[in-house]
Amino acid sequence: MFISFEGIEGSGKSTQIKGVEAWLVARGREVLLTKEPGGTALGTKIRQILLDPDTHISHRYTESLLFYADRCEHVACVIKPALAAGKIVLCDRYSDSTIAYQVGGRQIDPAFLAHLSAAVGLMPELTLLLDLPVEEGLKRAKNRAALDRFEQEDLAFHDRVRAGYLSQAEREPERIRTIDVKALNQEQVFEKIEEILKECVS
Ligand code: TYD
Repeated sequence: MFISFEGIEGSGKSTQIKGVEAWLVARGREVLLTKEPGGTALGTKIRQILLDPDTHISHRYTESLLFYADRCEHVACVIKPALAAGKIVLCDRYSDSTIAYQVGGRQIDPAFLAHLSAAVGLMPELTLLLDLPVEEGLKRAKNRAALDRFEQEDLAFHDRVRAGYLSQAEREPERIRTIDVKALNQEQVFEKIEEILKECVS
């Protein structure tokens, strides 16, 4: 089974994904925890380029192509082999990040990306979307280290990212399960996730 975790900056994905890993391992499942961008050696280099605030990109498609280059390598070398070995793959960000950040945030034509998504040809069976208002997410993210190229974007960009996620979740309500994390602490968010896991992971 392939499960992705999505959300705006500061939504708490990284904490929850570790909790899910521990929950599954405690139930005897073999789990692979991975992330995008940067789930392979080549992807780690691409990630550095994408997140570096000093990276200057001129053409509107370059950024998306770098994310898809990362994804192609990741799917072929890491995700598909793990699924073939019977593992549950937990991925911190996947294709819904592209819908949210490149289509929503950067306003890239979705038709251009549809072709690339079809070429990758692998979608998660379950996506957990942690949703909260942008102001709150950014407040949490800003307490961390130096801001990366995406975190430095303005509020309007991040509002479009969140809207991109929410409209994608409306289009695919079966796959994408949205959790409103605004008023919840980490334990309460995990309880919601646990309910979904009990329902969806056989
Ligand atoms: P990362 O530090 O992994 O973000 P976070 O800790 O918030 O999960 O940085 C990844 C950044 O890349 C994040 O800002 C979202 C962005 N991104 C895209 O714009 N498109 C994509 O397809 C993916 C996978 C990530």
